Amino acid sequence: MQETNDKGMLIRGRFTQRLARVMERINASIGFDQKMAMQDIAGSLAHAEMLAGQHIISAEDFAAIRGGLEQIREEISEGHFEFSVALEDIHMNIESRLNELIGAPAGRLHTARSRNDQVATSFRLWVRDAHDRALELIKELIGELLELAERNSSTIMPGFTHLQSAQPITFGHHLMAYVEMFGRDYTRLRDSRARMNESPLGAAALAGTSFPIDRAFSAKALGFAKPMHNSMDAVSDRDFAIEYLAAASLAMTHLSRLAEEIVLWMSPQFRFVQLSDAWTTGSSIMPQKRNPDAAELIRGKTGRVTGSLLGLLTVMKALPLTFSKDMQEDKEHTFDAAETLELCLEAMTGMIGDLTPVPERMLAAAGTSHATATDLADWLTRELGMPFREAHHVTGRLVRLADELNCSLDGLPLKAMREVHSQITEAVYTVLSVESSVKSRNSLGGTSPEQVRGEVARWRAHLQLLTSQVNPVY
Ligand code: ARG
Repeated sequence: MQETNDKGMLIRGRFTQRLARVMERINASIGFDQKMAMQDIAGSLAHAEMLAGQHIISAEDFAAIRGGLEQIREEISEGHFEFSVALEDIHMNIESRLNELIGAPAGRLHTARSRNDQVATSFRLWVRDAHDRALELIKELIGELLELAERNSSTIMPGFTHLQSAQPITFGHHLMAYVEMFGRDYTRLRDSRARMNESPLGAAALAGTSFPIDRAFSAKALGFAKPMHNSMDAVSDRDFAIEYLAAASLAMTHLSRLAEEIVLWMSPQFRFVQLSDAWTTGSSIMPQKRNPDAAELIRGKTGRVTGSLLGLLTVMKALPLTFSKDMQEDKEHTFDAAETLELCLEAMTGMIGDLTPVPERMLAAAGTSHATATDLADWLTRELGMPFREAHHVTGRLVRLADELNCSLDGLPLKAMREVHSQITEAVYTVLSVESSVKSRNSLGGTSPEQVRGEVARWRAHLQLLTSQVNPVY
């Protein structure tokens, strides 16, 4: 990147001295806000077209501005554009280049506009694009989870509370819990996208403008639903980025929990699942290791995103209206969070696609620790008419007996069970296997294979409906 030169004097009409070097460094945002180049050009094109339509600039000036901006767009995408720190930010870099390319008409582009509404517009467009990318990636992740859940609708594994075996469940049901979570992340992002989709352009510095602009025109040209109604709010709030960060933090929290489970399931003590060589790393010293690094990194990177949320909330919390330079600190938090979220969503989708369950390990673990004790208590309640509390107590005694005899609940002889409660019959064994346990939990939202298959089908249709409603603009 080019260091100091006279370009820095572009907007320094009343100043006679140039910026101190350190002042230039602390002031410049070009090192990161060049990411918004395409959005800034889109904003300028819409603004210039509106100015021409309103006869605020001539058609010839508009044609020159458009030609110049299109050339700059090409220079940037091909990597020939020279960014300059002295020009502070992406807005000034582009305007200065436009001036080099087309001369006088470039100076008319900034009519009825300030960098305050300009940056608010560019950043909003960028955050809207980040919403669209995340939505697409979440959709792909959900699709991959549905495939795995469908193939494992009757794969039995232990369900945990307190990380203690609680009741047998199906692996498909476990995965579908994440489909629900990521489904909410999807609609959360859709909600915030809809809320943020209003145009700040034309708010000018903070109070509007005396030029006869048409804000509805530029809003429409940029795919915004409408112009924002208050010029001060338009240039000074960043709640749209905070909402994005909040939604991203929740999505990362869900990713992190799933990542943690993959780490657990991959450990030799569990060995519930396997990942191929493509998704594991070895150890430099212990040849037997297969480490699920991507899962660990997803878990670890979650802190960056939640940190960004807290960072931007803190930047904004005591700022008086309207613009303060503090707000330039909105971008790095948001850019880093978006990059992290997108990488982690892709990595999780890849891992889920790669993951192979080890059903015999899951089944063996599901049958330990008297996981069907609740089924036994339910049977006593249902078949013998016992109050559930009493059934719970009787079951507790049977569990203790099984421990004493060192067998599972379905390994207890009927005679031994009858000594605990005389009315227990042979029929009790039908509910004591893990298979019958999961099959019987067929209540809405329950773990039975039938429920899981139904949910997979429902989600497929639901996802199609949800995603057909998104309307990305460029
Ligand atoms: N680079 C600035 C930002 O990122 C642009 C806005 C500058 N506006 C101003 N009045 N200094 O927020």
